[in-house]
Amino acid sequence: MSRTVYVNGEYLPEEDAKVSVFDRGFLFADAVYEVTSILDGKILAFDGHAARLKRSLDELQMKNPISTEDLLEVHRELVKRNDLAEGMIYLQISRGNPGDRDFAFPSEDVTPTIVLFTQTANLLNSPKIATGMKVISVDDQRWARRDIKTTQLLFPSMAKMMAKAAGVDDAWLVEDGHVTEGSSNNAYIVKDGKIITRHLGSEILHGITRAAVLAYAEAAQMQIEERPFTIEEAKTADEAFITSASTFVMPVVEVDGVMLGDGKPGKSAARLREIYLEESMKQAL
Ligand code: PDD
Repeated sequence: MSRTVYVNGEYLPEEDAKVSVFDRGFLFADAVYEVTSILDGKILAFDGHAARLKRSLDELQMKNPISTEDLLEVHRELVKRNDLAEGMIYLQISRGNPGDRDFAFPSEDVTPTIVLFTQTANLLNSPKIATGMKVISVDDQRWARRDIKTTQLLFPSMAKMMAKAAGVDDAWLVEDGHVTEGSSNNAYIVKDGKIITRHLGSEILHGITRAAVLAYAEAAQMQIEERPFTIEEAKTADEAFITSASTFVMPVVEVDGVMLGDGKPGKSAARLREIYLEESMKQAL
C-alpha cells in the first residue's frame, strides 16, 4: 500500500512526492534529520527530537521551515493518514534547491526542503530483546561533528555492512582506543552495577533516548559513569546495551566474539527498557 508522505507543506502519495536533483541534501548531504518512534499511535519524546532538530539546524546556520507546533501536527497527521500504530517517523530538512550545484551555501531566499514519512516496524517485540545483539568494533571514520544529526550516513552504512559481513548485528565505533557510540545508537557497558557510557561532546550524537534513560536510571538510584571506555573494558563488562529511538534499550551480549557475562541479556538493560517504555508512554503525544 502506498504511504502518504509530507513534502514542503503537502501530503502526497509516496509515488508523487518529488525533490529536485539540485537539492543540497542530495548533492552535499547538506541536511539534518530526526527519527521519532510511534507506539500505540502516539509519538514518543517529541519535544526532545524537536529541540535537537533546532540545535542541528542552528549549528549549520540552516533556516527552520516549520514551527514546533506545526511539526507536531504533521507528525500526528501522518500517523492518522497512514494508520500507523507502531513504527517510526523520519523527518529530514535540507538546505533546499538553489537551482544548480555550488559548494557555497545559497542565499537566504532559498527555502529549505522538508520531508517526513512513516515507517512501519515491530519495535516492541524485536527478536533481539530475547537473544541480545552481537557487535564488532570498527574504526570510527565519521566526520568530527557527530553531535549534529546530519544525513551524512555513508560511514555508518559501511559499518553496518562490516557487521553484516562478520555475521553480527551492529558495529561499535572506536576512536583513539575508546568507543564513541554504535553505528546508529549510543553504547553502554555495565560493570559491578555501574552503567558506563561516553560523556556528551562533539564525538557522539546526543541521543534523546540516552538522556531519558540516564535520567530514569538516576531516579532509580542506579550508578552512572559518563566517560569513554575501551573495547577491552567492554569485553570484560558484566553486560552491555544500546539505546536509540528505534530500539529503545537493547541488550548486547557479545563484543568482538567475546561473550559478556553468561551471554544472556543483562538485568540492567531489561530494567531500563521497562522503565523507559513505561515512562515515555506516559508522556507520549
Ligand atoms: N539513530 N547515535 C547515532 C550515531 C545515531 O544515529 C542515533 C539515532 C543515536 C541515538 O539517538 P536517539 O536516541 O535520539 O535516537 C545515537 C537513528 C535512530 C537513525 O539514524 O535511524
